[in-house]
Amino acid sequence: MSFYLIQIESHLKILEIAEMAKKVLITRIIPSIAHELLSQAGFDVTVWEGNGPMTQTQLIERAKLVDALLSLGADKLDKHFFNECSHLEIIGQFAVGFDNIDVSEATLKKIPVGNTPFVLNNATADVAFGLMIAVSRKMFYQHKSIARGEWKHFQPLKNLGIELTGKTLGIFGLGRIGMVMAQRCIGAYNMKVIYHNRTRHEEAEKKLGCNYVTFEELLQQSDVLSVHSILSNETRGIFNKLAFQKMKPSAIFINTSRGAVHNETDLIEALTTGVIWGAGLDVTNPEPMDANNPLLSIPNAAVLPHIGSGTVEARNGMARLAAENIIEFYKSGKVPHCVNPSVLKKK
Ligand code: GLV
Repeated sequence: MSFYLIQIESHLKILEIAEMAKKVLITRIIPSIAHELLSQAGFDVTVWEGNGPMTQTQLIERAKLVDALLSLGADKLDKHFFNECSHLEIIGQFAVGFDNIDVSEATLKKIPVGNTPFVLNNATADVAFGLMIAVSRKMFYQHKSIARGEWKHFQPLKNLGIELTGKTLGIFGLGRIGMVMAQRCIGAYNMKVIYHNRTRHEEAEKKLGCNYVTFEELLQQSDVLSVHSILSNETRGIFNKLAFQKMKPSAIFINTSRGAVHNETDLIEALTTGVIWGAGLDVTNPEPMDANNPLLSIPNAAVLPHIGSGTVEARNGMARLAAENIIEFYKSGKVPHCVNPSVLKKK
């Protein structure tokens, strides 16, 4: 074969590969491992490099140009999105939560949705655990009081905290992250653990020695009540005025799942009127929280800007799993972590 024929042949091969390459849009800059894995697997990858999320119009415009989407929690993938982008073959979400995605619409359009569980359990449980301690000793407030020039003398009776040893931890939504939080609390403070789920978690009961209780009992008995549930129609606003009123006046409320699980107005009222003792939040509704929000100046409150998964280890793990969900789907038709697996069975 002549040199020219070989050249033409390899050129055609390159064109063929380029034509076959599936296009993936990553909707923010995330750890480079996602891009690397996808590129190595032959995908044609585009990354939205804006400093914040795209508007929904921008997202739809760009999603129309690709086969697969690697999305983030701030992307609104609702019915309108799916009507406009029903051509998408897979969505790989860079998060364990997927309440930004209308999964029933995705399912109707036969689009599998992947998520990134496991890799952020430690990081998120650390934030819940850290907030619990910070609230119990009013740490965020005390830090700010030094900055305000208020540290003058030793104060025997001012801003006293409460101890956690031997107290009761109530978990709302005992899953993977809640279990790590429970293990930390048992190990550090010998806390008794109770939990409330839709269905009993017998493996956790055996492993942790924890007890299932009703929602009412969880409210009444918890010294620290930590929320680890998903946001759903059942859990939206479940921690409201009535729920806070059933809690102990000495109780600490922690939420690291989704801000809409608690009612913020009711929480502020419960804290300022002494209905409950304190609150630690990594999630708010809306996000970002307004800088003038009263929760930022209540002494017994501590708020973080949704950093549960914010460690190098967790974010790298999430990027890897999000990419692998997409790669594996095209390779074998399977999505290792799929939230609507019925779609795959029908394919
Ligand atoms: C973070 O909130 C996540 O859902 O991964």
